Amino acid sequence: MSSTLIDIHAHLEDEKFSEDVRETIERAMEAGVNQIINVGCSMPESEKVIKISQEYPQCYCLVGVHPHNAKEFNDVDLAKIDEYTKLDKVLGIGEIGLDYFYDFAPKELQIEVFQKQWKLAASLDVPVELHIRDAYEDFFPAISNLPAPTKKLLHCFSGDLEIAKKALDLGFEFSIGGVLTFPKSEVTREVFKYIPVERIHLETDCPYLAPQGKRGKRNEPANVSITIETLAKVKNLSVDELSEILIDNAHRFFGKKLGFV
Ligand code: NI
Repeated sequence: MSSTLIDIHAHLEDEKFSEDVRETIERAMEAGVNQIINVGCSMPESEKVIKISQEYPQCYCLVGVHPHNAKEFNDVDLAKIDEYTKLDKVLGIGEIGLDYFYDFAPKELQIEVFQKQWKLAASLDVPVELHIRDAYEDFFPAISNLPAPTKKLLHCFSGDLEIAKKALDLGFEFSIGGVLTFPKSEVTREVFKYIPVERIHLETDCPYLAPQGKRGKRNEPANVSITIETLAKVKNLSVDELSEILIDNAHRFFGKKLGFV
């Protein structure tokens, strides 16, 4: 077991955890995962992640509306997100972005809802976590003429090397979870080998995407302790060396509101 780990993208607000949030956090602690950042995908979920962060000292959160829920979004929500970011344990805005894989909302609407939240993140200069799936062709143009937040991260990054290079040039950081451990994820491992370790973060995206060995089961923050072993091999570092770097990365990225443990 390594020292201290952070799951920078989890969904303990998901109904799959409704019975056992406390026990799930306890298992995370036992595995060395001492801090968990839950990420809202809708306004009710954003309110739920705030509540969880107020109830559990280990939990922090991001608030925002996911592209799947773009149809529900309105300007009152934008004002609420602005207000929520002032709270102690709300670290920034997420997850926001574009998802053309599922395509639950029209592209134009997804872009509009994403840009409104991106502009808010830039004006507040708070960290932002992005969900971009099969949509990089519109994502880069969508931000090209807008001010950008300083701290911006592509969550569950599965783009190729060309996209990674472009995002690196624009100052993005990258996070990855269980996908890194899948046998078929050769390209993703190559991409994460290329990305400087100072720009990398680990997540679970739980309850989804459990790592190899746990696939098909509900994922949970404790499993960061599995994924870090794969990342350590990819980066040719020991797990302890890597966990120290990841802690530094998280504190640099999320800033003062993320307490030290
Ligand atoms: Ni997520």
